[in-house]
Amino acid sequence: MATRLPDRLRHYWQRLRTGERVLFFTVGVLLVFGFFFWLAAITGTSDVMRVRDVYESSPEADRGLQRVKAYGCRNCHTVLKVGEWGLAPVLDGEGTRRTYTWIRAYLEDPNRQMRGKTLHDGRYATNFAEVPEAEKNAIAAFLFAQKAMPGSANYGSPPE
Ligand code: HEC
Repeated sequence: MATRLPDRLRHYWQRLRTGERVLFFTVGVLLVFGFFFWLAAITGTSDVMRVRDVYESSPEADRGLQRVKAYGCRNCHTVLKVGEWGLAPVLDGEGTRRTYTWIRAYLEDPNRQMRGKTLHDGRYATNFAEVPEAEKNAIAAFLFAQKAMPGSANYGSPPE
């Protein structure tokens, strides 16, 4: 049996079945690709991993975050990257896609805002009628403070 390392490696490679070779080769290619991707990301050569959703924190918005946590909005929505995904619209970037007026009006009357089709009717999702006005103001401030920058999946489509 071969004793030098390169010979030993070749020996083991030759003993592998075709499927195993394909598997190891593919994993190897992915590792090399992943390494360069990671290198590009940490050196700033590529900015694919840059965070593009921001929260413009303020005392009022922070109070809104506490209400969002208390009401369990994240059982359906993702906001600040935390929460369920796929049940309801992602609220990261909400303040870029919607105006403050729209958000505040939605919290007041989702049915009117969605033209008669909303799941925020108390049977499925939170009935906002049970939320005090001051808390709605805080929640609206919090949601409007969720901004997305170009390149974010939450940026929305630019106006036509
Ligand atoms: C049981 C699931 C559920 C929970 C809990 C929930 N939502 Fe929703 N939410 C939805 C769904 C579904 C929609 C989609 C629009 C609709 O049905 O009106 C939505 C839409 C929204 C929208 C409009 C998004 C847009 O731009 O179109 C806002 C704002 C919102 N929810 C805020 C909240 C807040 C604040 C809470 C917590 C007080 C909350 N939601 C809790 C399911 C939920």
